[in-house]
This record gives sequence, structure tokens and C-alpha cells, in this order.
Amino acid sequence: MSVPFLDLGAQYRLIQPEISRALDEVLESHAFIKGPAVADFEQSYADWLGAKECVGVANGTDALFLTFKALGIGPGDQVITVPNTFIATTEMISATGAQIVWADISPDTYLMDISSLEPLLTERTKAILPVLLYGNIPDMETLAAFAKERGLYIVADAAQAQGAKWNGRSLTDYCDIATYSFYPGKNLGAYGDAGAVVTNDSRLAERIRMLANHGRKEKYIHQFEGYSSRLDSVQAAVLSVKLRYLDEWNDARRGVAGRYAEELSGIDGLALPICSPEALPVYHLYVVRTGERDHLAAFLKERGIQTGIHYPLPLPFQPAYEEKVSPEDCSRLEYVRRISDEILSLPMFPEMTQEQINEVCGAVRAFFTHHC
Ligand SMILES: Cc1ncc(COP(=O)(O)O)c(C=O)c1O
Repeated sequence: MSVPFLDLGAQYRLIQPEISRALDEVLESHAFIKGPAVADFEQSYADWLGAKECVGVANGTDALFLTFKALGIGPGDQVITVPNTFIATTEMISATGAQIVWADISPDTYLMDISSLEPLLTERTKAILPVLLYGNIPDMETLAAFAKERGLYIVADAAQAQGAKWNGRSLTDYCDIATYSFYPGKNLGAYGDAGAVVTNDSRLAERIRMLANHGRKEKYIHQFEGYSSRLDSVQAAVLSVKLRYLDEWNDARRGVAGRYAEELSGIDGLALPICSPEALPVYHLYVVRTGERDHLAAFLKERGIQTGIHYPLPLPFQPAYEEKVSPEDCSRLEYVRRISDEILSLPMFPEMTQEQINEVCGAVRAFFTHHC
């Protein structure tokens, strides 16, 4: 039996009548930009996350850029973030003219190592940017206290973590702003590009709303120059339908993770994901680690089981950053490259059947029994 990495078709088949109805409504209304479907989604998503404000934007990358602009981050400023994320996180720091400062990560959770931050601070540090990688969440309580004491913003890149909580509390209880991507494969995915910023700060939300819409509140009166980065009504309508299922889907992902943990624990040479007891993760990805990564991936592929690598080359080692990363940072972060060489993302989606989970676990076990 082959097992896909994710199966958006299975999800679509479950919700197809609702999606069709929602899309028909938008098409009949002709309100494609800034229509009621967008406002409805923004309200429901903020409520679902336990936050005050949500501003829909064009994608998760823009969500970061607009956030930095709204916080006044620009040339001369520094933003501290992690080396093992998708490039959107750091690209947008550079896009503002600010400098990326690379934090260390925990070799267990692969999340920002908060104890590494202090020596990285300068008078130019403006913000700390933790990434909720794979749907896991770092110790937001300690991070919030650290940032508050030093007058720094926390912007959380939660592109991969819709609904992740720390100590039972919403992410926005601990940060100034959280940014989200609704890229199709995300836990809450649109049928195209979409994103959002979420915050408890109404003034910040208003500023981002205007920045994303040419610096205006009224049609042809522009308070300042902005950008064009709006969530459109078609995507908002899709997201509203899917949001009704997100608790169920996140629970199902945790269920799959639980089954993986039962079946795969105790295998010598295979490390499973680690989450703090305070974390409520949403398992966007299920990432295991082994020195035999490439052999394991090839073994699974032969059996029709798709896997992924998130991400194969950490950002400081990417050609894009060749000129921007110091040799000291490169050697300090060499262990991140070693981690990248050993990680493998197993199939993970809410609709995974018991048979599919068994197939993956059986193949992984067979690999370690016969090859290691
Ligand atoms: C951690 C992280 N940040 C930002 C983004 C960018 O989101 P988008 O693709 O919606 O621009 C992604 C998307 O994959 C991501 O994984």
C-alpha cells in the first residue's frame, strides 16, 4: 500500500458540498475584495485562537513583512530568529533593511533555545522571532518574560502552528503579534495563497490593515504609502468552512502522532519528536531523526511511502546568505547542519487511516530491524 505525504484530496471530498456552497455565495455576491466573507473569517479565526484581532493578508510571508513595517523595524535594527526555518521568515527581516541575528536551537525540539538569546542582544535588537516549527511551540512564558524585561517585541511565526498553545493559553497572550500562513498544505490551508496576522493590540492591527491596503481606510484617501496584500473573499470563504473542522483535524493529527509514538518508540537510532508537557502542539509535520536518514527515506520510497525533509539546508548555509553570515556564526551553527542531515518528515495528515499508519510504522521498524 502506498502512503502519500499528505492527502488534500481526501480532505476535499469530506467538505466538498460546503466548499461549493461557500464559493457560490462569494461568486454571486461579486464582493471579491474586502467583502463580508473576509470580515467573517477574520472574526472567526481571532475567536478560535482566543485573540482580539485578525487581519487577513495575501500570504504568510507578507504577514511577516507587514508586521515588521508596522512595528517600525527597518535599517539599523536587528531581529533574532532561528536558522532552521523556511526562508520566508528571514527574507522578510532583510526586506525591511534590518539584520538577521541567528539564535541557537534546542537539539531535542529544534525550537529556539531561549538561553542562547542574551549574548546576542545589542542596542540595535528590536524583536525576537520564534518559529513554531512543525506545529510545536517553544517556552513562550520564559520568552515573554525575557522580552518584556528588555523592551523587545516578540513576533511569533506560527505559519505551521494554527492552534498551538502554551500552558493552555493562546499564543497571542505571550507575543505582540503572531503571523500565519494558509498555504494549501498547512493545517488550515486555503485553495491558493493566504495569510493572517493575529494580535491583541487593536492599534497594531489597524496599522497592518492599512499597510496591507495602500495606507488607507477610505477608498481614495491614503494616510501613508502602503502595499497591496489583502486576503481575498474566495480564500476567506474556503478558510471559514475549513476552520469549522480545525479542532477535529488538529486532534486527528495528535492522534496520528500518538500512534507513531506508540509504534516507533524504543527503536535504537531513531529519535521521535519531543514536546514540552506545557506545549499543545498541532503536528503540522512529524519529524524523526536518524543517522540513517537517506537510507531510511529510500527504503520507504521503495515501498511507496512518501517523506519530506524540512529543511535540508539551514538558512545560514544557503547561497542566499553566503555574504551575510560570519564564519563564526557558520561554525557555531554547524550542529544545525548536522541535524538537517538527519531529519525526516513522515506522512502526517488528519485523514490518515490506521492501515496507512501501520504501513509506515511497519516499514520503519523493518528498516531498523534489517538494516541497522
Ligand atoms: C515557518 C514559515 N514561515 C513563513 C511561511 C510563509 O508563508 P507563505 O507561503 O504563506 O508566504 C511559511 C510557509 O511555508 C513557513 O513554513
